[in-house]
Amino acid sequence: MQFQGKKALVTGAAGGIGQSIVEKLIAQGASVAVADRDVSALSATAYLPGDLLDPSYADTLPATAAEALGGLDIVINNAGVITRGPVTDTSDADWDLSVGVNIQAPFRICRTAIPLMAASGGGAIVNTASCWGGKAPGPNHALYCMTKAAIASLTQCMGMDHAHQGIRVNAVCPNEVNTPMLRSGFAKRGFDPDKAVEDLGRTVPLGRIAEPDDIADVVLFLASDAARYMCGALVEVNGGKPVA
Ligand SMILES: NC(=O)c1ccc[n+]([C@@H]2O[C@H](COP(=O)([O-])OP(=O)(O)OC[C@H]3O[C@@H](n4cnc5c(N)ncnc54)[C@H](O)[C@@H]3O)[C@@H](O)[C@H]2O)c1
Repeated sequence: MQFQGKKALVTGAAGGIGQSIVEKLIAQGASVAVADRDVSALSATAYLPGDLLDPSYADTLPATAAEALGGLDIVINNAGVITRGPVTDTSDADWDLSVGVNIQAPFRICRTAIPLMAASGGGAIVNTASCWGGKAPGPNHALYCMTKAAIASLTQCMGMDHAHQGIRVNAVCPNEVNTPMLRSGFAKRGFDPDKAVEDLGRTVPLGRIAEPDDIADVVLFLASDAARYMCGALVEVNGGKPVA
């Protein structure tokens, strides 16, 4: 019960990795406010549905969560979208969506969460970058990689800038994870998702791609006191597989 009495906000809470993070935080004693477009299927302490592309929603989410939970110790910026293809296949709408969800929303949330958490003695923020972009460039996902490079850099900067306030900001960098984000991409390209996940697993030195729990455990570690001396770290979780 290492999160007993802790109050946490999780975005993208209804997604593959998000659901696992929420379940694990609750199992270890945290009160959790869940944010996503549709949170009706989740079990949590507080429900904060909304669209992260709406600046007034993202700007007020930390304060709304703090009010609903009676404080805020942990923020997990997990929501994300993926846009595939090279820059030449990227539309203005793709740009607005990817930059809006993957960079601007966590920026807005951190900007308001940091003073709020600092005022009550500190806290931990875990952002979700990716091996793709966050650690190395990857082929055929230019916009996605750019947004993950941006959130990785923001994480490093915020980790440095706000450590003196008792705020630890770190990021997890997964490689491929078996979630709707990955599976819907396979389905869209005409592949059977189960078979594609199995085939992809053979390209990973550990023998399988990550399951949501594999990533959520590292997110919880970064949010916990066990990571008390980590600020601005980008933690790769890749089963031994580098970006192609
Ligand atoms: N699945 C992978 O292979 C993989 C690899 C590396 C990094 N990641 C990152 O992990 C995080 C979680 O991804 P996942 O694989 O669980 O994907 P997912 O698609 O299952 O979950 C993402 C969640 O974000 C929410 N979201 C998206 N846009 C939103 C918006 N405008 N407003 C509110 N909520 C919004 C979605 O509704 C969804 O529930 C993302 O940041 C993703 O980029 C995933």
